[in-house]
Amino acid sequence: MRLVAFEDLKPNMLIADDFYGISGAKLAKKGVTITEKYIKNLAQYEIPFLYVIDKYGANINVRCSITTSLRNEATQHLKKLYNSIRIGRENELSKLLKKCTEAVSKLVDDIIAEKIDLYDVFDIKMIENYKYQQPVNVMIISLILGKALGYNHVELYELALAAYFHDIGNNFIKEEVLTKFEKLTDDEYDMIKGHAEKGYKFSKEKLMLPMKIYLAIGQHHERYDGSGYPYSKNGDNINRYSRIIAIADVFDALSSRRRQRPALNPSQAFKIIIEGSGKQFDPELVKIFMNVVSPYPIGYTLKLPDGREGVVIKNFKGRPFNPIIKIIKEDGRSVVKSYDITLGKK
Ligand SMILES: [Fe+2]
Repeated sequence: MRLVAFEDLKPNMLIADDFYGISGAKLAKKGVTITEKYIKNLAQYEIPFLYVIDKYGANINVRCSITTSLRNEATQHLKKLYNSIRIGRENELSKLLKKCTEAVSKLVDDIIAEKIDLYDVFDIKMIENYKYQQPVNVMIISLILGKALGYNHVELYELALAAYFHDIGNNFIKEEVLTKFEKLTDDEYDMIKGHAEKGYKFSKEKLMLPMKIYLAIGQHHERYDGSGYPYSKNGDNINRYSRIIAIADVFDALSSRRRQRPALNPSQAFKIIIEGSGKQFDPELVKIFMNVVSPYPIGYTLKLPDGREGVVIKNFKGRPFNPIIKIIKEDGRSVVKSYDITLGKK
């Protein structure tokens, strides 16, 4: 399978994986053959990419660490909890929290059992579902970093919950400020910054979770050099879970499309993380990030500087810039026989 931008979908391609919408219903179903009518119908949802099988994507397996149905389950439970927090239905909190922690627990077990230690997938997000999908993906990236750090099961579970709820404080920020298209005023920016501390206070008062999780939520916008918020903490004074989540959060946010800006491609987002080493991010954790997160997701189509086009088919842990690429086009024309190259090697 390979990842194709929505505008490049063509009849006769096959949908390679289920795709869920904001309601939790399947918008695209694995195995369906795409038609003109199907494309027209899907256009209303503003899906940026889809995984498809076509002549170029045959024999490429995207090794998803987490099934799309489990991702969807975690996304839906978070949405219900957040809706309930927003409208102040406190009597529902413990029941909804239980559903959330069960989904997180399954996800942690899967990551451990599947022996996944490299993140090289692409999470396709819809703009309207971003605030629930993004924390789930931040959790997955954080877990892979946590595994590389040798975290035990309890630590991975705590890290996962902190990542899942990192932006819980946004539920106390006015929706029109959170989704504002134009540049924010200073007051509005201060309001948004308040989400970290609001998240800390709310989770501490209302959610029965380990203390480390509240701290991690409160400190996820601190920066290694002390220039972050809300407490201007620096270096090792910042909760370690927060330092992990900060990297996963920024990487995932930059490589996602938002209403206000297009997505960067994952390799551009990857470079920004490296540039932030020692400034925004913990340099030791950035080193680990570079070993276990790939800037080239499997199935992603790349245009090389020499004009060739290829699909990423394999990555190697610890060698982020040398994926194997299957060349499918030269000078815009399909090659008669595709062949593999290693990026960055002559
Ligand atoms: Fe945040």
